Amino acid sequence: MSKEKSGVSRQLLTKEGAFTSDFEWPLTLLVDKGLDGAVTNKSRVGYVDGDKGRLIYQGYPVEVLAENADYEEVAYLLIFGKLPNEQEYVEFSQNLKANRKMPVEVVKIMDIIYDHEHSHPMSLLRTAVSVLGVLQKNVMDTSRENELRMGMHLIAILPTVIAALHRLRLGLKPVEPDLNLKHVENFLYMLHGKKPSARDARLLEISMILHADHGMNASTLTAVATSASLSDLYSSIVGAIGSLKGPLHGGANEVVLKEFLKIKSVDHVKEFVAEKAAKKEKIMGFGHRIYKTYDPRAAVLKKYASKLNDEVEMFKIAEVLDREVVAKYGSRGIYPNVDFYSGIIYRHLGFEINFFTTIFAAARVAGWLARILEYRAENRIFRPRDVYVGEFNKEFTVREKRP
Ligand SMILES: CC(C)(COP(=O)(O)OP(=O)(O)OC[C@H]1O[C@@H](n2cnc3c(N)ncnc32)[C@H](O)[C@@H]1OP(=O)(O)O)[C@@H](O)C(=O)NCCC(=O)NCCS
Repeated sequence: MSKEKSGVSRQLLTKEGAFTSDFEWPLTLLVDKGLDGAVTNKSRVGYVDGDKGRLIYQGYPVEVLAENADYEEVAYLLIFGKLPNEQEYVEFSQNLKANRKMPVEVVKIMDIIYDHEHSHPMSLLRTAVSVLGVLQKNVMDTSRENELRMGMHLIAILPTVIAALHRLRLGLKPVEPDLNLKHVENFLYMLHGKKPSARDARLLEISMILHADHGMNASTLTAVATSASLSDLYSSIVGAIGSLKGPLHGGANEVVLKEFLKIKSVDHVKEFVAEKAAKKEKIMGFGHRIYKTYDPRAAVLKKYASKLNDEVEMFKIAEVLDREVVAKYGSRGIYPNVDFYSGIIYRHLGFEINFFTTIFAAARVAGWLARILEYRAENRIFRPRDVYVGEFNKEFTVREKRP
């Protein structure tokens, strides 16, 4: 067994080294942990250029979209492959608005199962989507038209669920959506019960645009792989939320902010980095499978986080940590990723730390849908293989005689 890449990520298995059986193996077999380098589809939805630090949605650089578009336009772009004209925009926005309201059953279930100490909002969100899928009609109709109908429902309703969970946690009643407000404005309105400032709505909108799609990452693969068995969209999104929750993926944004709080002041940053290095622990919010340079989304979020007067201390810690880690690990391609600066913005907007990843999910659902629809057009069920390195023909012993 040889390790060609770092750690255990790529293993070259040889017949002599790894296999002791009579089974016919090829002479050599490459195991790529984490499907590194595997290509699942041809896609027009988006492109992640890891060397140049570029992210493209349907041909447009993400920075240009973050600067000029709104979330509805970007969701439309990802799904339909073009920016909407005025009429398409109005229809799309109306459709989302019509889907915002949360069924009373979901609120009741969330209220019953919400254990304020132990329930993670991502687990509740995952459960809520599952319940929505139970309440939904015709989920197994896999026509594009029906998938789109359900996709609109999911894009529209995730903010409603998240805002309701936030309020239930605080012992407050959920706020009904305001159909006069745009998608992101309404999200913040349902969260705090008052219309947000234009600046805050725009901040969240920019962040949601930057999180809307990102290639065949872990949660997208989960969504697409679930859908490829011709399962229903709600099941795919339940799976995707479960995957996104992990701290190596979307869950990193929470851990990052908790670490800033632990560091407390810029004076302790060096010590924190040294401690992590000594323990051989990763520093959350850094590193990426594809980007080997600065994540373009982190650069945009950094710019906006730097302007928040109420988060000056947090930003200072982040900036120094960014500098220290890049100085130490930059030559190995480890730079801040999207989860590094986003939490500072979410905190400013009034989200609790353990809600951060739910915002990521509310944004990414458009990308999950776009990728599912794209894959479904030429669908094939997923079936990678693993390599059996166990024994063959073991002798069975009855339980009483087992050591
Ligand atoms: C994102 C991530 C999972 C990518 O993983 P990957 O492509 O499988 O890379 P690996 O985990 O195999 O790491 C490769 C090497 O870089 C190191 N590395 C990767 N991320 C690191 C980090 N954040 N801090 C320190 N070292 C890191 C690993 O220790 C490993 O070192 P080794 O070669 O000495 O074993 C990984 O960088 C990570 O865990 N980052 C922290 C979590 C995070 O921020 N996730 C959000 C991603 S948007």
